[in-house]
Amino acid sequence: MEEDLERILFDEATIHRRLDELAAQIANDYRDRELTVIAILNGSVILMADLLRRLPMPLKLDCLSVASYHGGTKTTGELVFRQLWMPDIAGRHVLLLDDILDSGVTLATIREKIEGIGPQSVRICVLLEKKKTRLRHVDAEYVGFQIGDEFVVGYGLDYMERYRNLPCIGVLRKELIAATA
Ligand code: IMP
Ligand code: MG
Repeated sequence: MEEDLERILFDEATIHRRLDELAAQIANDYRDRELTVIAILNGSVILMADLLRRLPMPLKLDCLSVASYHGGTKTTGELVFRQLWMPDIAGRHVLLLDDILDSGVTLATIREKIEGIGPQSVRICVLLEKKKTRLRHVDAEYVGFQIGDEFVVGYGLDYMERYRNLPCIGVLRKELIAATA
């Protein structure tokens, strides 16, 4: 899989070191409040497993499954929720967890939906944030790394559902995208 990458942006050790820092920050911010983490599937599975094990405090976990790409490398702007029920987070402190903040459509839409249930607070944690103009404005309180506007895979991020199990994050070779997109 690594030979499909144009270059590696963050290796496994770099990601894990950054997760140590993020977890320390989150644990400190929520030391007096019980957290409900809502992980957005499938992209955040690896992040969820690695980050949550670094949080030394009681918390609840829920997952939301959404799709926005339908196979390509650009959002369709339309988000499909794959579950019938939203998690019961009324009165709770919610931390939304996603792999990457790109156009902002996914997190803006989910945030609105979650806020409609009446949580006490909502914050956002993403591993990656692309520096670009977004379709929807979203602020993430916890950001692992900022990257340029390039298509990346690995560590949970996919291209047509592949590469999620790559331990590092890298830029996918352009010709591989052009061949199938
Ligand atoms: P947004 O709605 O455009 O912000 O995109 C959010 C979702 O698109 C993420 O949760 C990812 O699943 C996917 N995504 C955005 N950029 C990339 C990328 O560079 N590589 C892989 N997936 C991406
Ligand atoms: Mg995806």
